[in-house]
Amino acid sequence: MKVAVLGAAGGIGQALSLLLKTQLPAGTDLALYDVAPVVPGVAVDLSHIPTAVKVEGFGADDLPKALKGADVVLIPAGVPRKPGMDRSDLFNINAGIVKNLVDAIADHAPEACIAIITNPVNTTVAIAAEALKAKGVYNPAKLFGVTTLDVIRAETFVAELKGLDVEEIVVPVIGGHSGTTILPLLSQVEGADFTQEEIEKLTNRIQNAGTEVVEAKAGGGSATLSMGLAAARFCLSLVDALNGEDDVYEYTYVEGDGEDARFFAQPVLIGKDGVKEILHYGDISEYETKCKTEMLDGLKADIKLGEDFVNSPA
Ligand SMILES: NC(=O)c1ccc[n+]([C@@H]2O[C@H](COP(=O)([O-])OP(=O)(O)OC[C@H]3O[C@@H](n4cnc5c(N)ncnc54)[C@H](O)[C@@H]3O)[C@@H](O)[C@H]2O)c1
Repeated sequence: MKVAVLGAAGGIGQALSLLLKTQLPAGTDLALYDVAPVVPGVAVDLSHIPTAVKVEGFGADDLPKALKGADVVLIPAGVPRKPGMDRSDLFNINAGIVKNLVDAIADHAPEACIAIITNPVNTTVAIAAEALKAKGVYNPAKLFGVTTLDVIRAETFVAELKGLDVEEIVVPVIGGHSGTTILPLLSQVEGADFTQEEIEKLTNRIQNAGTEVVEAKAGGGSATLSMGLAAARFCLSLVDALNGEDDVYEYTYVEGDGEDARFFAQPVLIGKDGVKEILHYGDISEYETKCKTEMLDGLKADIKLGEDFVNSPA
C-alpha cells in the first residue's frame, strides 16, 4: 500500500503526515510531495519516528516519482483562507493547483483513489472529475471530497452541548463543504433532543466553524490540526477498505445519482475498489428539507464553476 500526500509541507500536510506515519498499517509507503523546499526535511523529521511506515520526501520536480504506484493520493496543496475570505475566494489560485496535480495523477497513478482537501471542495472535486475525464481515466468510485471535518466538528459541538460521550456520538453531515451547503442532520442524532432554537444555533455554528478558526488565527491560516486529524481518519478508512475490510462507512462528497446535485456529501460504503455503495441519507426533518432546498442552487453553481474551469476556460 502506498499513500501520497500532495502539499505535505503545509499546515494540514504536516499534521496529516504525522498522524499517517504513526497510524498507517505497518509496511505502508508514505510519499510526501510539496513545491516548498522544506519537504525533504519534513520527511527526514518524520522518518525518525519508530513505526514501520516508510516515509520519503519529493520536491517540486519529483511529482511523477511521488505518485508512482500510489493507491491513495491526498491533496491538501493550495492556499488557505484569511479573515474576511470565504472558501470561494480561494478558487482562482487553488483551481489551477488542483487541475495540475490531478493531471499528473492521471498520467502516473490513474488507478489511485484521490481525496481532495483543497478548498473550495465543492468546486475542486468537479475540477478533478473533469480533468480525469479529459484524460480518459475518470472513475467516480475513486474520487472523494473530504468533508470529515464537518462531521467531527458537528460531533464535538453536539456532545459539548448535550453532555454526551463524544466517542459514541454520530452526527450525519450532508451536502457540500462551505457555508449553508454544509447540512448537519441533527434530527438523526440518537440520544439527543433539541429545541428549534438549539437546532438553528448548532447548524449555524457547524456551518461557520471554519471561520471561527480563521478569525482566531487572525491571518495565520485556517484549520490545520483538526483538519489533519479529519483527513487522517478518512485516509485510514480508505486504506482499511482497500485492504479488504468490510463495513467501512464515511460521509464524503462524491458523484452519485444526481438526485440532489452531481456531487453531494452523503454516507458511502467504501470497498476494495473505492465507492461500493452510496447510501441515501434517510428521512430528514422539515427544517433540514428547507435548508437543503435553499442551498442546492448554490452548490450546483459551485460545481458548474469547476466543470467550466476545465471544459470552457475563459
Ligand atoms: N476540506 C477541508 O475541510 C479543509 C479544511 C481546512 C483547510 N482546507 C484547505 O486545505 C488547503 C491547504 O491548507 P493549509 O492550511 O495546509 O495551507 P498551507 O499554506 O499551510 O499549506 C499548503 C501547502 O501546499 C503547498 N503547495 C502549493 N502549491 C502546490 C503545488 N502545486 N503542489 C504541491 N504543493 C503545493 C504549499 O507549498 C504549502 O506547503 C487550503 O486550500 C485550505 O482551504 C480544507
